[in-house]
Amino acid sequence: MFESMNERLTSYGVIPVVVLNKASSAVPLGRALIAGGLNLAEVTFRTEAAEESIRLMSRAFPEMLIGAGTVLTIEQVDRAVAAGAKFIVSPAFDPELVDYCIKKEIPVYPGVATPTEALMGIKRGLTLMKFFPAEQLGGIKAIKAICAALKGIRFMPTGGVNKDNLRSYLESPLVAVAGGSWMVKSAMIDAGEFDRITALCKEAVGIVDEIRCPEH
Ligand code: 3PG
Repeated sequence: MFESMNERLTSYGVIPVVVLNKASSAVPLGRALIAGGLNLAEVTFRTEAAEESIRLMSRAFPEMLIGAGTVLTIEQVDRAVAAGAKFIVSPAFDPELVDYCIKKEIPVYPGVATPTEALMGIKRGLTLMKFFPAEQLGGIKAIKAICAALKGIRFMPTGGVNKDNLRSYLESPLVAVAGGSWMVKSAMIDAGEFDRITALCKEAVGIVDEIRCPEH
């Protein structure tokens, strides 16, 4: 389910997971991400500024793929989509929220941490789910163990992913795309270090290319 969004996310290889404290940072951040080769973002509903940030970024950069993260309620799904979010990510598997998104045909990536939760997604036709918190749960080894028993799914590992362990995930076909905040830390955004964010995005894109397009 949601194959075309799954493919788009897979084509990027990494998703910057963003915590924006001020909506006024949204447009400069979008510009920095695009300059770094990542015209996508998961803007987390961890701050009051999330909804407005999604709106501002979507308007300023229609070519960007913007999703909402840390979505915990149906009300947040509605607000995120109304603001321009094209996909929904949640740290947990809430059947009510997932079923709501499926009914409305909103691509949803619920967090799973166990085979039980992964099976709940499979039963609903999901083929890509977030694996969270990835590093703390055992990283790629845990993903491989789950997928040995449960076929036909791939993961979006998030939580503790960084430039040093990104390769361990992307080298596996079980990983569609890895999410993380390492290239867009709030402290960098708040300090206006947009050039640094661009450089870190370029570095991440370089790692994706090295693994997925080794001939380049
Ligand atoms: C998420 O919301 O997906 C994670 O908290 C991001 O994890 P990280 O900050 O460890 O990259």
